[in-house]
Amino acid sequence: MKEAIRKRRSVRTYQKQPLTDEQQKRIKETIASYADMRGPFGHPVKFFFTQSNKQEGKKEKVGTYGFVKNAPAYFGGTTQNTFRHLVDFGYVFEHVLLALTEQGYGTVWLGGTFHRKQFQRFAAKGHIIPAVSPVGVAAEKTTLREKAIRKFAGASNRKPLEEIAFQNEFSEPLDKDHPLADALEYVRMGPSASNKQPWRILARSKKVHFYLRYHPGYREKAFGYNLQALDGGIALAHFKIALDSFGKHHRFTYDQKAPKSSLYEYVLSVEFKD
Ligand SMILES: Cc1cc2nc3c(=O)[nH]c(=O)nc-3n(C[C@H](O)[C@H](O)[C@H](O)COP(=O)(O)O)c2cc1C
Repeated sequence: MKEAIRKRRSVRTYQKQPLTDEQQKRIKETIASYADMRGPFGHPVKFFFTQSNKQEGKKEKVGTYGFVKNAPAYFGGTTQNTFRHLVDFGYVFEHVLLALTEQGYGTVWLGGTFHRKQFQRFAAKGHIIPAVSPVGVAAEKTTLREKAIRKFAGASNRKPLEEIAFQNEFSEPLDKDHPLADALEYVRMGPSASNKQPWRILARSKKVHFYLRYHPGYREKAFGYNLQALDGGIALAHFKIALDSFGKHHRFTYDQKAPKSSLYEYVLSVEFKD
């Protein structure tokens, strides 16, 4: 999974041919294998998979406002509209994206630019669809349009670690040779809505506290749910994957005593045994 974190990038242009039955079976099985996974707050994601109607020759095609081209299929998930459910959604959904990346498939988180109504039939009452993703084989050539989207979102750029990670106090940037710097690199590489990279991390004694620095409007207004809570879940997923691969024992904990900040909203902490 660590390699998949390094390799993954958003794919918005796909090869034109539909998925073979075998490919479709494998993708569905991969998604289904995460149906029981729970995020750090204990909630699972309810997944769905649908072929892109365009490929099936139906009238109405699954729409994404032109951001995605030739996608043979989509998958998505549903959950309840609370902060904790959304963090868990980010955590679990990112695992699926990384598993599909490992298998060579292209994906892209879509939280804003898809026709929500077309997927609504997959959501049980009281559930929302925080995100969907196309899935297929990436086109060999990135189109000019995709290049423009990437450039607009600054997709290849990431903030340096010392801008998002701190030690002891928010005023003290994380040392480059901090024992957790390697694992936090995997948080830094993560995708985030409009590449805003809202994660802020404070390493202090045997704990690492995760926070979000909201972009104005992203908490709820623009989308009807807290889009950046998903980014929080993605960050926790990446950190856990890195810690597991480095063999560092840890657990998630909600720390009532985590330092407060007027700029950042607390999400969750990771506690180390030694
Ligand atoms: C929660 C979330 C929502 C996103 N929503 C959209 C979207 O609606 N449309 C889109 O084109 N990209 C979307 N993205 C993709 C980001 O723009 C992309 O991850 C970011 O620019 C970094 O680029 P990369 O994924 O290639 O590393 C979203 C990403 C995340 C994590």
